[in-house]
Amino acid sequence: MPDIESLLKETRVFKPHKEFTKQANWNKKQVAEYRKLGAKDPARFWAKMAKQNVSWFTPWKTTLQWKPPFAKWFVGGKLNVSYNCLDRHLEAENAWRRNKAAIIWEGEPGDTRVLTYGELHREVCKFANVLKDQGVKKGDRIALYMPMIPELAIAMLACTRIGAPHNVVFGGFSAQALRDRINDAGAKLVVTADGGYRRGSPHALKPAVDEALKGCDGVETVVMVKRTGEPTNFVEGRDLWWHEVMAGASAKCPPAKLDAEHPLFILYTSGTTGKPKGILHTTGGYLTHVTTTAKAIFDLKDSDTFWCTADIGWITGHSYVIYGILANGATSLMYEGTPTHPGPDRFWDIIERWGVTIFYTAPTAIRTFIRLGDEHPKSHDLSSLRLLGTVGEPINPEAWMWYHRVIGGRRCPIVDTWWQTETGGIMITPLPGAVDTKPGSATLPFPGIQAEVWDEEGQTVTPPNGGFLVLKQPWPGMLRGIWGDPKRYQETYWSQYKNTYFAGDGAHRDPQGYFWIMGRIDDVMNISSHRIGTMEVESALVSHPKVAESAVVGRPDEITGTAIVAFVTPLGGIQADKELGEELRNHVTKQIGAIAKPAEIRFTDALPKTRSGKIMRRLLRDIASGKETVGDTSTLEDYSVLAKLKESEEG
Ligand code: WT7
Repeated sequence: MPDIESLLKETRVFKPHKEFTKQANWNKKQVAEYRKLGAKDPARFWAKMAKQNVSWFTPWKTTLQWKPPFAKWFVGGKLNVSYNCLDRHLEAENAWRRNKAAIIWEGEPGDTRVLTYGELHREVCKFANVLKDQGVKKGDRIALYMPMIPELAIAMLACTRIGAPHNVVFGGFSAQALRDRINDAGAKLVVTADGGYRRGSPHALKPAVDEALKGCDGVETVVMVKRTGEPTNFVEGRDLWWHEVMAGASAKCPPAKLDAEHPLFILYTSGTTGKPKGILHTTGGYLTHVTTTAKAIFDLKDSDTFWCTADIGWITGHSYVIYGILANGATSLMYEGTPTHPGPDRFWDIIERWGVTIFYTAPTAIRTFIRLGDEHPKSHDLSSLRLLGTVGEPINPEAWMWYHRVIGGRRCPIVDTWWQTETGGIMITPLPGAVDTKPGSATLPFPGIQAEVWDEEGQTVTPPNGGFLVLKQPWPGMLRGIWGDPKRYQETYWSQYKNTYFAGDGAHRDPQGYFWIMGRIDDVMNISSHRIGTMEVESALVSHPKVAESAVVGRPDEITGTAIVAFVTPLGGIQADKELGEELRNHVTKQIGAIAKPAEIRFTDALPKTRSGKIMRRLLRDIASGKETVGDTSTLEDYSVLAKLKESEEG
C-alpha cells in the first residue's frame, strides 16, 4: 500500500495539556482501567457504560447475545431514546436543565431559534401525538427529507418516542434517490419542508417529494414545514402543514417502553453495487455507544456548546448533532446553511457569537478554509474553543497542523475520529485527556473495541506494512443488518474473515500501535467525507439514453479528497462533446444528487477490459490522476485502448 512511506515520516507528537487532563471526564487512570476491562471482557465494559450513561425502564438480562454475524445487546432491557435525550433532564436533580438550551439553531439567512430542554420536550411530545393521530404505530417507518431546521430534530425524537424507526434522507438527494429510499424502507409517512436556504437563496425540497411520491404507493401522508414561504404545491387529502397539525396537538405523550433491540432508524449508505444499503440501528446498544463516546471523546460537560457541522442526513449528524449530545444534556448547535455564506468567515462568526466550546468537522472543510485564507478565522475571537474534532476521511498532517494552530490556538486537543455509518458511533480515536496525538493518525481503538490490521489470510500485519482494517468483537452501536437483505449484510461485512467485521478500509499501525487509516479499498469513493459508490454513478450514467457504457473512478483532489472522473462510451452515432458532458453531469445530479456529479467526464470509444470482460479500474485510476501506468497490464485484452484513453476527449 503506497501511502505507508509518507505517513511513517510523521513524527510529531502532541501530549495532552495538563490543565485539560485535570478536568477531563476520563482521565489517564480511568482510561487505563477501562482499556483493561474492555480488553478482558468487552461486554462487561459496555454493560458498565450502559448503566452509567443510559436510563432504563427495565434492566436487561443478557448483555450480549452473539450469533455471528448477528448481535443482540442488552437483551430484555427496556428504554426510550427520547426519554434519555429529554425527560431525564427535566427530572429530580437534573430539573434545572429545563430552561437550558438543548438546541441552538441558526438559519442561513441569520434567523435563530433556541429550544430549551423543556421546550424541545414539549415540541417532541406534540409531534409524537401528530404521528399517532395520523395512524402511525410502533414499528412503522417514517421518512424525513428536510433541511437542517429544528423540526428535523423534533421529528426524529418524536419517532423514537413512539418507536417508529426514522429514515432520514439527506436533502441534497434527488427525487429518484428519495423514492428508492422511501420504497426500500417501506415508509408510510414523509416529513418535509417547502425548502431550506443554501448559498443565500431558498432551495425547494417539496417538488422532489411530489416527484418521488409518484412511485411510492405506501405513503399516505406528507407533513410539510413552512420554512421558506415560497409558493408550494399542496396535495389536498395527502399533505398537511406542520404548523396547523401542531397547533392542536397535546404536549403530553408518555415515552413508549421499547425493547433494547427495537429498530431505532434506517440510514442509507453507498456500497459497491448500485443499490444503497439501508443500515439498521437499534435502540439500547446504539444509545449506549453514542452517549458514552460523546462524553469521553468530546469531554462533554454541562457548560459546553457543542457544534458538529455535519448534516443530519448523515450518520455523523444522527449520532453527534442529536443523540449522543442531547443524551448527555449538553447544548447542541445546529446550522442550516453553507460555510461560506454570506462570507468566508461564517463558521468563525458562529463560533464567536455563540461561544462554541467544541467544534467537530470534516477534513474537506478544513482544507477549504485553509485555501480561503487565515485572515477569516483570525478576524474572530475563537478563544471559547477548548476541543476540536475531525471525521469522515483521513486528515493530511498539514491540515491537522493548521487546524491545531489557526483554529485551536495551539491549546485545543484534536480528536481524529474513525468510524462509519455501520459502526453507529466512534471506534478509533484519541481520548483528549489521556492519549498523545500524532497529526494524521486516529490513534487507538476506544476501550471495548478490538480493531486490528490483517492481511488477506487474516494474519496480523506488523509495521510498516499495511492491510485491512477489521473489528474482532461485536460492539453495541454496530449495525444490526441491512434492511430487508440479511444475505448482503453477511456478504459485505462478514465473508472476508470468519466472525470478524470487515470495514472496507486500508490501514497500518506504527510501532506504538497507532492506527493510520488509508481510506477505502473497495469501489467506494470518499467525496467530501461522503461515501459514493462508483457503481451508483455508473448506473446513473448508463440510464441516460445516449450512453453505451461507463466506468467511474476517483482521483485525488486537494479540497474534496476525491473527485469523480467518469469514462463514458456514447452509443454509436452520438456526438461526444461538451454539451453531452454537461447533459450527463446534470443527469447524474437528477438521478442521485449534486454530491455525485462527476468533476470530469471523458469520452472514449472503448474501456480497458480483461479478457473476461472486467473493467480494469486500476488503469483508469492512473489515467484519471495523470499518472504513468506502472502496474501490470498483461491481462489487458486490447492494448490500443490505453493509448486511446490517454487522448480521450474531455466533455
Ligand atoms: C468511511 C465511512 C462516520 C462518519 C462519516 C462518514 C472514512 C471516516 C475517518 C477518519 C480516516 C475516515 C472511512 C470509513 N472515514 N472517518 N477519521 N480517518 N477515514 O461515514 O459515510 O459511513 O463513511 O469514512 O473510509 O470507512 P460513512
